[in-house]
Amino acid sequence: YIIGIDLGTSAVKTVLVNTKGEICAEASKNYPLLHEKTGYSEQNPEEWIQQTASALNELISKSGVRPEDIEGISYSGQMHGLVLLDKNHNLLRHAILWNDTRTTAQCHQLYEMIGEKRLLEITKNQALEGFTLPKLLWVKEHEPEIFDQAAVFMLPKDYLRFKMTGLIHSEYSDAAGTLLLNVGEKKWSEELCQLVGIDISICPSLVESSECVGTINEEFSQKTGLTLSTKVFAGGADNACGAIGAGILSSGETLCSIGTSGVVLSYEERNDRDFAGKVHYFNHGKENAFYTMGVTLSAGHSLSWFRDNFAENESFEELLADINNVPIGSNGLLFTPYLVGERTPHADATIRGSFIGMDASHKKRDFTRAVIEGITFSLNESIEIIRENGKEITSIVSIGGGAKNDSWLQIQADVFNTKIIKLSTEQGPALGAAMLAAYGCGWYNSLEECADLFISTSKTYQPKLENVPVYKQLYALYKEVYYQTKDLS
Ligand code: XUL
Repeated sequence: YIIGIDLGTSAVKTVLVNTKGEICAEASKNYPLLHEKTGYSEQNPEEWIQQTASALNELISKSGVRPEDIEGISYSGQMHGLVLLDKNHNLLRHAILWNDTRTTAQCHQLYEMIGEKRLLEITKNQALEGFTLPKLLWVKEHEPEIFDQAAVFMLPKDYLRFKMTGLIHSEYSDAAGTLLLNVGEKKWSEELCQLVGIDISICPSLVESSECVGTINEEFSQKTGLTLSTKVFAGGADNACGAIGAGILSSGETLCSIGTSGVVLSYEERNDRDFAGKVHYFNHGKENAFYTMGVTLSAGHSLSWFRDNFAENESFEELLADINNVPIGSNGLLFTPYLVGERTPHADATIRGSFIGMDASHKKRDFTRAVIEGITFSLNESIEIIRENGKEITSIVSIGGGAKNDSWLQIQADVFNTKIIKLSTEQGPALGAAMLAAYGCGWYNSLEECADLFISTSKTYQPKLENVPVYKQLYALYKEVYYQTKDLS
């Protein structure tokens, strides 16, 4: 057996998997987000450790599996969060998380210190508030007494792994989200560290996601019952693990994941494409591979906002049951899902959403369909950026809330103009983490071989030729709305 741990933003999820890729048990535990001030989002890393230990206890006892039969364990983690340790490896402060937005000034400073062009050349990404380096600069400026004591910085799941093994490492897929990694060359950037005045020695040593970094330590073994011989593998960023868990392991393969936010993630084998920072460009959890990624901040969130305010007593299934009775284009109604601003392609925290084209004849179902179409158009903007750079997208695996409804899956096929694949079962990033452990343990010769066994498809959706050109026209209108409504916010 192997275990996959997904250290998420609101909860840790653990899965126990056998050699056939079957999920034998699952256990999750929550922890709170701390919002001390507007824009702040922190967590106490000690809670990650306690809740992971508690989830693992439950997982092992639920499964009835003997701990000595658990061969390996690996991780998926919320990206970008900053954990700071002193020279004795004690925590210096709470972790500042990916969704904390206090660092706008530091992002501007980064462009001034490095130059946008050079930052993009090295890191392949824009300076965004959520990323780790702006957080480090914030601590340096606002909490110099803490910064001076910092001996090493870590990402969330790397801190969890450290507490489970006593060993400090990071790996490429999470390091890519720090803005300190030379993504193409897979090494911490000496040049960036120098330009921003950060000692490169605070960067942890880097390994591959499937590398065995050690075994469970005495303390964690006592807490959980896991044996001292259980192998521990580095793991990866949650988006990389989500991609592995959905089988996105070769060129042309793309993932559309619609949860609260929506993500379009496309496998990339080259390290030298130039997306001008319009989409994120990170190292994959598969060796020497990459992925590009665009984010719609309010994807599922737009639909839950609509349901909670205008269809309180309906389940999502009931709400969506009616959208097939509305023609393509929602009888002239268009929605933009910018309820909390937008990341891709606009990187604009102030833009707000809209319904355009309201008519006295419109019914609730027209609005519902418009919301679904608007979310899908927004995700298509990420797909378009990826395609414009010469990348062919041959199929898209759709997961999350957006994959629960047949009509929405067909809308995705029609708007994205490609085949959409729905999986039989979805375990998300936790399964990807487990697959890294399975491959790391040598059960399979490659992640692809593991994916063939662990992941299966339940249904595919082909674009309907008559719908594609209609959506193309509507999508062109949709893109205009941003520019027309920008000044309102
Ligand atoms: C990725 C990002 C989020 C976090 C959530 O850039 O900010 O998807 O990884 O865990």
